Amino acid sequence: RKLSIIGAPMDLGQNRRGVDMGPSALRYAGVIERLERLEYDIEDLGDVHIPRPNRKEVQEDHLRNLKEVAEGNTNLAEAVDQVVTEGRFPLIIGGDHSIAIGSLAGIAKHYDNLGVIWYDAHGDLNTGDTSPSGNIHGMPLAVSLGIGHERLTGIHGYTPKIKPENIVIIGARSLDEGEKQLIKEKGIRVYTMHEIDRMGMPGVIQESVEYLKDRTDGVHLSLDLDGLDPNEAPGVGTPVMGGMSYRESHLAMEMFAEANFITSAEFVEVNPILDEKNKTATVAVGLMGSLFGENLK
Ligand code: ARG
Ligand code: MN
Ligand code: MN
Ligand code: MN
Repeated sequence: RKLSIIGAPMDLGQNRRGVDMGPSALRYAGVIERLERLEYDIEDLGDVHIPRPNRKEVQEDHLRNLKEVAEGNTNLAEAVDQVVTEGRFPLIIGGDHSIAIGSLAGIAKHYDNLGVIWYDAHGDLNTGDTSPSGNIHGMPLAVSLGIGHERLTGIHGYTPKIKPENIVIIGARSLDEGEKQLIKEKGIRVYTMHEIDRMGMPGVIQESVEYLKDRTDGVHLSLDLDGLDPNEAPGVGTPVMGGMSYRESHLAMEMFAEANFITSAEFVEVNPILDEKNKTATVAVGLMGSLFGENLK
């Protein structure tokens, strides 16, 4: 099994500095060593180039740092595309969640029906018009559906990247009005914390796997560390109380490993500046261990 790690030190999709150090934090937490133990042929491609922020921040159409975010994601899309073309599993480490725009752009062209598991406290389904913040990290899922500014939706030369019926959001507990509307309108499957509490994590994951298995020919896992409870993953820019636990999250990763259907993944929003002694990166690396089958032996 061949796996390539790509760092995306992006912090321009939101306004808290430090998440650009996420890839370093994850490497310090031992991501390579952890996965090498699982008999993967690992290559670390280093970090893709992300432009420096403007000294004076520009907002176009209520989209903070649009130009730089678009450029960084264009670079990421090319790197990810190359990895998939070589038949390797792309593991992208962020960076704020705006990097899902580039990841999905590079991956989705290789599939007719790419599925997406969006493990997150948020839906990230905003546009410049519905966003309360103007932060592009709150928009990547909408952008990938072809909804939003053309400078973002058009990245890597095609749009849309994914279809609404191939998405499952898990862990949502902070959805903006416009996002709720889009979810309804497009019929996007969402398991909020309410459903997770009622059905239990095993039920949610089993249903998600069953739902995606027949309709997709690959599944990308986009895991935002703020999906977890901030007590267990404090190093994130937009924490929301009442999240998924460390144990629930490990169980989810183990069930994905058992189902053997995740074909690409990204771990995002690790911000070491806001963290407690690299706890969140350590949690993320542990989850990767489970996702890649550490406990199946
Ligand atoms: N919904 C809020 C916004 O659009 C928060 C988004 C948080 N997204 C994230 N990837 N952490 O501004
Ligand atoms: Mn290709
Ligand atoms: Mn989030
Ligand atoms: Mn997110």
